[in-house]
Amino acid sequence: MENFTAYNPTILHFGKNVIDKLPVHLSQTGKKVLLITGKGSVKKYGYYEQVVEKLLDAGKNIVDFPGIKPNPVVDDAEKAVTLARKHKINFIVALGGGSVIDTAKMVNMAYANNLPVWDIMKRRAEPVKKVPLFVILTLAATGSEMNGAAVLQNHQTQEKIGYFSPLMYPDVSFLDPVFTFTVPKNQTVNGIVDLIAHSLEAFFSGGYAPLSDRFVAANILETFDYAPALLNNLTNYELRTRMMWSATVAENGTTMHGRTTSGDWGTHALAHHISLLWNTPHGQTLSVMFPAWMKAMKNKIAQRLQYLGTLLTGKSEINPEETILIFEEFFTKIGAPVRFEQLGLHNQDKQKLLNLWLKNKPTGLNVIINDNDYQNIISFL
Ligand code: NZQ
Ligand code: ZN
Repeated sequence: MENFTAYNPTILHFGKNVIDKLPVHLSQTGKKVLLITGKGSVKKYGYYEQVVEKLLDAGKNIVDFPGIKPNPVVDDAEKAVTLARKHKINFIVALGGGSVIDTAKMVNMAYANNLPVWDIMKRRAEPVKKVPLFVILTLAATGSEMNGAAVLQNHQTQEKIGYFSPLMYPDVSFLDPVFTFTVPKNQTVNGIVDLIAHSLEAFFSGGYAPLSDRFVAANILETFDYAPALLNNLTNYELRTRMMWSATVAENGTTMHGRTTSGDWGTHALAHHISLLWNTPHGQTLSVMFPAWMKAMKNKIAQRLQYLGTLLTGKSEINPEETILIFEEFFTKIGAPVRFEQLGLHNQDKQKLLNLWLKNKPTGLNVIINDNDYQNIISFL
């Protein structure tokens, strides 16, 4: 195994009514809170009201910043930073899914360090401090609630990129599976795909890390087990619980230890370009891209595909194509798209995508993607 440092400072409260623990943590913060939310679901379903009540009871002054879009953009983060500066806020609460949390993380870095958001993301400026960040999660998918990563889009530069800092782990996250009962079926499918994709990104990093490999396989098998039942019963507490925890574990470091890099992330980098161009939900870009990437890169990752197939099926003799099929079939079974056309896109759009790849050169940290590979991946989409 490679050397590694295990670090995850997030306090995570998990289960029914964990929001009741919010006041305990609020006693340690200042008075002014920036409350970041999405396009309206939290108000529609009453989560906003519950959180606001707790904040007001604790004597906090709330500065609201609603309206964060799925596939969040850097301009909205900058607007939130301006508001935070105007009100000199003391801490941030993110109430929502990955888009809200990622925005809150970057707002925190830019505000606390008086730096532009995009300069931080492009690593032209280095943040050194933060204000406290609390997360109340309403959607199981990204793992952002227990990691130090954020992803934003910039339409001016035509990029959707990630940024990681140890300063960005939420201080405290509250995960009540009941808050996810209202996530619609298609968005639940997106979350399932995303957590499987995170498991795969971990697996396709390099090095010898057998326990991390087994964690990956266990989480994928766990997801294969609960997903079909959950999609038929979106308000089942136990099934929502299983999904919520497996999404967190897929992307909180557990599956990364001992590898040469913290995941490969080539498929995510490729898939982000689809969101950038057509505002496609993150999960849908991944169910299309992962099978295509595995097919195109098959020769570079043949042994890993075989080993993953063995871990998932128990069969010692399994070929790479069979492993790829396991995922393609599972995505299809749960109603996720596996072909470019299923995203409502056409052949001429593939050229647009290829051109943007050739400009931005997305690649993995372990499995390097070159210009020929781009063409090859496009042919499997
Ligand atoms: O905007 P609202 O009205 O809140 O509605 C949202 C949104 O339309 C809705 N929603 C959220 N909770 C709900 C709900 N609807 C009903 N009931 C609830 N309880 O769901 C929609 C999608 O929300 P979003 O936050 O965009 O989804 P997700 O959590 O999948 O986040 C996706 C973003 O995270 C990034 C993705 O690239 C994408 O931009 N990622 C972040 C990562 C990280 N920080 O570690 C890693 C991931 O690989 C990913 O890249
Ligand atoms: Zn993802």
